[in-house]
Amino acid sequence: MNGIIDFNYFEKVRVKLSTRADNSYNIIIAKNLFPALARSISRDNFGSRYCIITDSNVAKIFGNRLLKQFNGLGIKCDLISFPAGEKSKNLKTAGKILEKMASIGLDRKSCVIALGGGVAGDIAGFAAAIYLRGINFVQVPTTLLAMADSGIGGKTGVNLGAGKNLCGSFHQPKKVYMCTEALSTLQKREMRNGLAEVVKHAVIFDRDFFGFIEQNLERVMSLEDGIIVKLVKRNCELKSKVVEMDEKESNLRKALNFGHTIGHAVEALGNYKKYSHGQAVSIGMACEAQIARGIGIMPERDAGRIRALLQKIGLPVRLEYGAQETLEAARSDKKADGGKLHYALAKSIGRMHTEGGKFAVHVDDGIVKKVLEGCR
Ligand SMILES: NC(=O)c1ccc[n+]([C@@H]2O[C@H](COP(=O)([O-])OP(=O)(O)OC[C@H]3O[C@@H](n4cnc5c(N)ncnc54)[C@H](O)[C@@H]3O)[C@@H](O)[C@H]2O)c1
Ligand SMILES: [Zn+2]
Repeated sequence: MNGIIDFNYFEKVRVKLSTRADNSYNIIIAKNLFPALARSISRDNFGSRYCIITDSNVAKIFGNRLLKQFNGLGIKCDLISFPAGEKSKNLKTAGKILEKMASIGLDRKSCVIALGGGVAGDIAGFAAAIYLRGINFVQVPTTLLAMADSGIGGKTGVNLGAGKNLCGSFHQPKKVYMCTEALSTLQKREMRNGLAEVVKHAVIFDRDFFGFIEQNLERVMSLEDGIIVKLVKRNCELKSKVVEMDEKESNLRKALNFGHTIGHAVEALGNYKKYSHGQAVSIGMACEAQIARGIGIMPERDAGRIRALLQKIGLPVRLEYGAQETLEAARSDKKADGGKLHYALAKSIGRMHTEGGKFAVHVDDGIVKKVLEGCR
């Protein structure tokens, strides 16, 4: 038979699984959760011991403080830190973290605390997802981007040499603690990056929220108490609605790709150095609003408002690459489906465009090229 299995005769055993586990969790948002964070986490009993996984910067600002709180309460807790930055978001760092988790003896009842920005959240969540085939974890996002985006939805993972976020797992946290006071040590540049994703959620789902950001931008940037909590909360409501309805990214979650088809291309063309993700997505949103206008689904006024708000935030909106090279870069992104580019487009601020019930729509390359030339 040359090693070929004869399938003419077989028996069948079905492994019947119900996948209806309840993965619901709460996101707590408040100005200052830090002073009593260890107490709140331990009160929820997510683990018999804890392990904070964070980056080298956040370890110094918040990590060691949180560790002391646990120690003060007599609760076993360890801290694992890795060098800050996207360059650490790989299998090598994840491997080191996993080895460390094993060497300190974490078991099935241990709970990981993913503390930090999106990088720490993704890598610590990934470690929790695969250590002993999955242990509990809670998220404590400390950047606006992590509060606005990566801290909601349970996507965890690392980059591969072949591309960003190519290796990972869906693993939902048990709880997320968002402390807006943490943003006070964050660089303004990082605030702007996070705001790009907040603006995206407003464009996709909520015109009033978009107006709120327009009117309160200075107060948001200066972290005025009520305003920043309100911004983070409304943003969480919007993103979590999508995640609730589409946990594993089949359709609705694709609406979240607004600005990302062109944004990912811009990020890649700048070798992931020239533009941060937030900046690239800002350019992507400005361009994709023009694409929506170009195919006659979005009014000129709304495309103008989107561009103006992004500029007011201090984000770039002008495309510096040629239309052809931008499309080619977009096509080599993992989300390009068989070479055909799809876009998540808004028909106005607050309302997404669908075709046949689908949020990811194809737009003719010729039209896109013409529009993109006008965005330069
Ligand atoms: N999982 C998801 O759904 C999802 C969604 C969007 C983005 N992401 C990922 O998120 C990552 C980007 O996240 P990011 O922008 O938060 O980057 P980051 O985690 O690298 O944080 C940016 C910088 O800010 C520092 N920092 C964090 N909190 C701080 C604070 N409170 N005060 C001072 N400094 C602080 C960090 O040490 C780092 O140097 C990317 O890897 C991206 O792929 C994931
Ligand atoms: Zn994004």
